[in-house]
Order: sequence, then structure tokens, then C-alpha cells
Amino acid sequence: MLTRYAVVLAAGQGTRMKSKLYKVLHPVCGKPMVQHVIDQITKLNIEQIVTVIGHGAEKVKAGLGGQSQYVLQEKQLGTGHAVLQAKTILSGKQGTTLVVCGDTPLIKAETMEALITHHEEKGAKVTVLTAQALEPAGYGRIVRNETGLVEKIVEHKDASEEERLISEINTGTYCFDNQALFQALNEVTNDNVQGEYYLPDVIEILKNKGEIVSAYKTLDFEETLGVNDRVALAEAERIMRQRINKQQMQNGVTIMDPHTTYIGSDVEIGPDTVIMPGTMISGKTKIGSDCKIGPNSEIKDCQIGDATVIRQSVAYDSHIGSGVNIGPFAHIRPQSDILDDVKIGNFVEIKKAVFGKGSKASHLSYIGDAEVGSDVNIGCGSITVNYDGKNKYLTKIEDGVFVGCNSNLIAPVTVGKGAYIAAGSTITENVPGDALALARARQVNKENYVQKTKY
Ligand code: UD1
Ligand code: CA
Repeated sequence: MLTRYAVVLAAGQGTRMKSKLYKVLHPVCGKPMVQHVIDQITKLNIEQIVTVIGHGAEKVKAGLGGQSQYVLQEKQLGTGHAVLQAKTILSGKQGTTLVVCGDTPLIKAETMEALITHHEEKGAKVTVLTAQALEPAGYGRIVRNETGLVEKIVEHKDASEEERLISEINTGTYCFDNQALFQALNEVTNDNVQGEYYLPDVIEILKNKGEIVSAYKTLDFEETLGVNDRVALAEAERIMRQRINKQQMQNGVTIMDPHTTYIGSDVEIGPDTVIMPGTMISGKTKIGSDCKIGPNSEIKDCQIGDATVIRQSVAYDSHIGSGVNIGPFAHIRPQSDILDDVKIGNFVEIKKAVFGKGSKASHLSYIGDAEVGSDVNIGCGSITVNYDGKNKYLTKIEDGVFVGCNSNLIAPVTVGKGAYIAAGSTITENVPGDALALARARQVNKENYVQKTKY
């Protein structure tokens, strides 16, 4: 096998997106387009990946990190000019160079592998990945001669009426003999409608030199979709979503309505978990087996155990154990650690709180900046008063505590193990273990009050 290199083109602004965000950073199922491309390329046994950056260079680099080397294309003079920027790193090397556009997020590793194999079997200097498009407008067209061999690629804007009828398109993914590529790039000119140095021109240049020029046609056009505007972005999102949901279902997850279920590409879900409609699961979320999630729930960056139920609720950046019951209408905010068998009921908000095993907050509570022990019962409407307008303070509720309904626990405060808080109390001082704390005015009944007010 020849040594393999890859160049990813990611320098363009993406004018047609009409966005402040650089095109290749637009997310598809929660992950930047160019990250999808790089993730697939890293499966291919590639010696060096070089990403060409320009617009938003620092942001693209920060997003991709150490998976790639980078070269800067200061002015975006075209795709040929973009590849030429990798010269300092790659020219002179012997091997096969794969070139992929950062705006084709659906391309799969298997297809690129098949392209490279075809290229090497044919002993070609260049092989272009092509596809049959139903609506080829906007793409470069593959011009073949009478014998079916590839002659050149003509861009849509430069194509004649006749050439525009061709439905076989350039997907923007290619394989080159590395040295032939960099030699030919020196000969590419910008004599075309857009005044750009086109990478596809390398094909005609090599052909004219009598080199072997080949094409590998994939049957799956969808996979090669180039995202130039928001319409194509939504299309890519739809296709990627279907692909992810299908994979999850094949792994044993029940998705009741895949059309209304949105799962990010890095989400892991265990078998026999059921996802109900209107649910969005994203980020680095990991969910165990036998869970029930949804309907209408949003979960981001959470680790969730087995047999947990989350209904009509929102959970962010938190750890949720096994056998937990959340919702309907609960809000689990970041840095919460909810241990096994906990119940968080309707209209309960949890923020940066540990909730010990078997504890319950069943109705209408706010528990923030708190350490709640195990087997604690938080009565309806009780809250931790964690904020004095400037700083936040900790509330500690030890194991087995019973907090009566509608209590305020003014932090910093500790309620000792097994203690009781009388309903309606406003607790400002620590409560010793096993004590009963009453912190409310004693009731006064004015007898016959109504008669006395009548005169
Ligand atoms: C390109 C191809 C076209 C193909 C299509 C497939 C050319 C000239 N045309 O057209 O044949 O059918 O892709 O999707 O190559 N980029 C740079 N620097 C530049 C210009 C572009 O890095 O100076 C990057 C862009 O960020 C993008 C990629 O190259 O990721 C493709 O550029 P784009 O302008 O989208 O090319 P298309 O017009 O789609
Ligand atoms: Ca494009």
C-alpha cells in the first residue's frame, strides 16, 4: 500500500450561507461539517492530514485541534490555489493524496477507501469521485469522450448549454499521485468565469500529458452533497439524522418516531432504551439500557445510567444515575449529580446539586448549590435560598432529612442527619441531627372575628 496523505479544503467564507459563522463550522447534527469530514478521514490509515484554513482560521483550528496539520490560505483564490498551500508540507512526498472539501459532511470513510483502492488499482495519476445528480446545477460536470474516458471537469458557471445537460457531477473528492498533483497545480490558471484557480483543472492538465485519469462513480449521491447554502444545510441535517437514527435502531434502541427524534453523532445509547417523539439528545451524552426518554425532552452532555425515565424535561451537563425518575417538566441544570433511584418530579429545578440515593423532590422545588444526602424527602414548594444578590452559598441536607412543604433553607446552612423541618419554615441556622426545627410564627385564631367586624 502506498503512503496516504489527505488535504481538507476549509478556507472559504461561504458567502452563500449569509452567515457570521464560517461555512465549514456550521453544525450538522451538532457537529461542525469539517469535523465530520475529518472524523471519517481519520478512519483511513492516513499518514498526514493537512487542513487548508483561511476565513476564521483560528476558530476552525481551535475546533479541530490536533487531528490535523494546518496551512493558511490568506486569499481565497480557488480550490487549486488552496491545495497548493499544502506544498510546504506535502510536495516531494511519494504516495497518494486524497483531497476532500470541508463542506461535504456526509462523505463516508468506506466510499473514500473504495476511491483510493480504485485509484491504486488503475495506476492513475488522478481519480475523481463522481455521482449522478438529479439536480446537477451548481456542481462541476464530468466531461467524458466517445469511449467513456474522462476528459475534463467543467464548472457549472463555465459550462456550455450542452455541458450543463450532463448529470454526472464532481463530488469535490479526489485522489492524486502526490507528486503529479503538485506539478500540475503549477500549471493551473485562473482564466475562467470566476477568475479562480480551479483544482478540477488538474484533470485536463494530466490528461493532456498522457497520464491515466480515472473516475470512480458512487451510487449514493446523498453522501456527496455539497453544502453551499442553508437549504443544503437542512438537507444534510435530514440525511445525517436519518443515518444516526438508523444506526441507533440497529444497535437496539427503540425510536418511536425517527422523524421527530434528533440525536447527535457522538451520542451513545444502550439497547432497549426507548426514545419518544420530540426528543433532542446532543453533545457527549451517554445513556444506558432500558431507559425511557421523552416525549418532548432535551438532553445535552449528560451521563445517564440504566432504567431511568425522563419525561417532558430538560437536562444539561449532569450525571444522572440508574432507576431515576425525572419529570414531567423538570429542569436539571449543569453540574448536577443525581444518584440512583432518585425522584425529581414536576416543576422541580436542580442546579449544581448532589442528590443522594433514593432521595425525592416530587413537586415545585428549587434545589441549587446543594448537597442532598440519601433518602431525603424534600416537600412540595421547598427551596434552597442560595443567593444573596452577590454570592452563592451551599446548603447541606444530610441523610434521611424530611423537609416539610414550602420551606426556605437560607444558605449557608446545614440540616443534620435525620432532622425534620416543619412545613412553612424559613431556616436560617444549622439544624442538629434528629431535631425538629420550627421557624414560623405560631398560629393565632381570633374567635368570633367576623361578628365583631359587623356593626
Ligand atoms: C466545488 C468544485 C465543483 C464540485 C463541488 C462539489 C471547484 C472549482 N469546483 O465547487 O467542481 O462539483 O465543489 O461540492 O473546485 N475553498 C478553499 N479555498 C478557496 C476556495 C474554496 O479552501 O479558495 C474550500 C471551501 O471552503 C469549500 C471547498 O473548498 O470547503 C469547495 O469550495 P466551494 O466554493 O464550495 O466550491 P463549489 O463551488 O461548491
Ligand atoms: Ca461547495
